[in-house]
Amino acid sequence: MEPSVKVINEKIQGKALVTENKIENTKKLFIESYGCQMNMNDSEIVAAILDKEGYNTTQILEEADLVLVNTCSIREKAETSVRKRLQKYNAVKKINPKMKVGVLGCMAERLKEKFLEEEKIVDLVVGPDAYKDLPNLLSEVSEGRSAVNVILSKDETYGDISPVRLNTNGVTAFVSITRGCDNMCTFCVVPFTRGRERSRDPKSILEEIQSMVDQNFKEITLLGQNVDSFLWFGGGLKKDFKKATEMARATAIGFAELLDMCATKFPKTRFRFSTSNPQDMSLDVIHVMAKHINICKYLHLPVQSGSNAMLKAMNRQHTREEYMTLVDNIFKIIPEMSLSQDMIVGFCGETEEDHQDTLALMQYVKYDFGFMFTYSERPGTLAGNKMDDDVPQPVKKRRLQEIIDLQQEHALFRTQQHLGKIEEFLIEGTSKKNPDEWKARNTQNTIAVFKKEHYKLGDFVNVKVEDCTSATLKGTVVGYSDNN
Ligand code: SAH
Ligand code: F3S
Repeated sequence: MEPSVKVINEKIQGKALVTENKIENTKKLFIESYGCQMNMNDSEIVAAILDKEGYNTTQILEEADLVLVNTCSIREKAETSVRKRLQKYNAVKKINPKMKVGVLGCMAERLKEKFLEEEKIVDLVVGPDAYKDLPNLLSEVSEGRSAVNVILSKDETYGDISPVRLNTNGVTAFVSITRGCDNMCTFCVVPFTRGRERSRDPKSILEEIQSMVDQNFKEITLLGQNVDSFLWFGGGLKKDFKKATEMARATAIGFAELLDMCATKFPKTRFRFSTSNPQDMSLDVIHVMAKHINICKYLHLPVQSGSNAMLKAMNRQHTREEYMTLVDNIFKIIPEMSLSQDMIVGFCGETEEDHQDTLALMQYVKYDFGFMFTYSERPGTLAGNKMDDDVPQPVKKRRLQEIIDLQQEHALFRTQQHLGKIEEFLIEGTSKKNPDEWKARNTQNTIAVFKKEHYKLGDFVNVKVEDCTSATLKGTVVGYSDNN
């Protein structure tokens, strides 16, 4: 069974990622990924680029020619885990001095050359927009020089690279549709590490989905820091849209249209997307979701805080009241919608009253799932530079526990709503607890476990839900669903 509250656990991240190997490839790549799904997907892009350079993936660190760690900077803890991993690589490098070590992703972008000074074992530092330069950088490294490319790009979306799927279950996969973020939430390092927002050509998105469908994938999650802000007008940064030609502006494609195109073209494929920023979430998207049975009725709609004072300090572009109205409208259009949140407790200046507002907002929405964090000051952000991280650690911890406890109550309230119903689930793997049981998800993203019987990975089945915890449904399959 899954942990009962979905708090992102930075400790369990960073598993070696592997794929099917090619005989003609002679070099060995050990790649690990920390942080968000976008990083996982980027590691798949990196694996595709290095596949062409003769690298196969390996799970055995000791035999690697090249070790890459795709890093996360979102909270201090994420960076600490990576530094610990680098110490481990260092120990292995002593036995295998030919092994090269590279740091990719957000920490690479944030620390740049400093990495080479601070972490003496690092040979290569590559930011999120520079992966296509890896072959050149590796040839530098092979000649004994260290190599750095942390240039952020205006138009790189890796739309022309077909990712090599790593550690795949063969059923669910991620497809990136936007990169970067323009929102500048005051606590967040992402706009600095991933650059300005740009969208990927819908044609290349549809082609990638087609290839996933051809390989029998059943569920695609469209990924971006802020997917609702998707805007294709021929390429380039979103902020330059106003400068585009009249023709480009008139024929631009937004997120609702992209979603409609995907769901229409692939009626048997389930679609999810993440993340939606409340300020960019339009009801057009909700109407498209309502129109297509194959778009999952689940929205990750981070709010961060229920207090207007905090939302303002965080530079979130909406009030608590606007968010509640949005939630009301969403439930009006799709009553069975499942919602999840991200929350930060203990942001600069957060009072007990602000915290109570967060709890009250949670009571109002009763989220199905939640990802909850204590505020972690990030150097270079506006809050890091200008605001006082003044909530004491024990207070942060206590507030976090309070929202986790409340989230757990709401998660149970939500899972109980499924009891007695027959719902469609997509089988995506074996239950962690019981090898005789499948693990599957319904449209709301709720997990169920049930006896395997003769059903297979990737089957859509109807399950009668008979029991539940706050995280997992239990049931019995009644047969295949119509989607098979
Ligand atoms: N739009 C992004 C958000 C990325 S960060 C997305 O695709 O999900 C994911 C979450 O981490 C944020 O929603 C926020 O809740 C949390 N977070 C970001 N910066 C943080 C910080 N400095 N301290 C604590 N949590 C943070
Ligand atoms: Fe970060 Fe806010 Fe963008 S949380 S990723 S700056 S929407």
